[in-house]
Amino acid sequence: MADVSAHYDGSAPSYHEQYDADLIWKNAEYPANYFRLQKVIEILRDRGVSSVYDLGAGEASPIIAIREALSVDIRASDLSPEMVRLGKDNLTRHNMDPDWLTLVDIKDMEAIKVEAGRLGQFDAVIALGVIPHVEDDEWFVKAMSLFLKPGGTLILQFRNSMFSMFTFNRLTKEFILEELMAPVPRKFRDVVEADLDQRLAVDKPPIRRREDGHGYDEILSKFNNPLELAEVVKSQGFFDLSYRWYNFHPTYPMVAGGIDAQEYRQGQIDLESDTSWRGMFLCSAGMIIATKAH
Ligand SMILES: C[S@@+](CC[C@H](N)C(=O)[O-])C[C@H]1O[C@@H](n2cnc3c(N)ncnc32)[C@H](O)[C@@H]1O
Repeated sequence: MADVSAHYDGSAPSYHEQYDADLIWKNAEYPANYFRLQKVIEILRDRGVSSVYDLGAGEASPIIAIREALSVDIRASDLSPEMVRLGKDNLTRHNMDPDWLTLVDIKDMEAIKVEAGRLGQFDAVIALGVIPHVEDDEWFVKAMSLFLKPGGTLILQFRNSMFSMFTFNRLTKEFILEELMAPVPRKFRDVVEADLDQRLAVDKPPIRRREDGHGYDEILSKFNNPLELAEVVKSQGFFDLSYRWYNFHPTYPMVAGGIDAQEYRQGQIDLESDTSWRGMFLCSAGMIIATKAH
């Protein structure tokens, strides 16, 4: 498996573009992270937090936007040296302290404990786009909790495996055979597999590779089942859980090309305000919001 840090070192220089409001209509790729950040700011504002820790903060654009919107104390860390280098520049350019962002691997339990001991606890801890790259979900939530005050807010983003029930492609096949039918005998699954190979577009979606061999689909970039992840969060002493969905797909991706691109994007943006159950199937990503028990 290719290296997560090398992947993000490579994408660090253009990462800020995802948060550029002027590019919402111009970028070929839907700026899902822009909308995610608006929702995070709204949640933090509603909860009246005054300090935020960002795990896997990238080149600091989100945490800077959060401070500018809410005047909160911020601290952050990331695994990728290039993200951290650019993030420190970014903080300096915004008249903020570059030392607020440090280089830490969330998988390094000792380093995380030292960092949490050094910084103390915050009103909110966020991790956006990070858990897909870490195998151990339980440790991930535990690590977030170390930085969080009792009564504080956790915002945990994940790639949504339930979206595969709306994509009718290879991801659907994998979800049905490996997750939904996991307890069913192999013989039954073989029959279903042969049928799904006829019904589904199993050659889609294309695998995202990069010339240097560190493309997004070449590194660990796992999906989470939202219901299972919620159980992990609860098991680590959190309550009052809710979901917030983003990156809405008004049609399944492989037929989106049949609709005018601007009209399609407007359809995506319009759905971003939907807070119903539909997000669990129409969205490729979501966030769990939860409160840490006292
Ligand atoms: C999708 S990016 C998101 C960056 C930022 N949170 C944002 O919302 O713009 C994922 C980030 O997680 C970081 N990351 C991945 N694995 C990590 C780990 N084990 N420890 C700390 N950060 C990690 C990457 O370096 C990258 O900057």
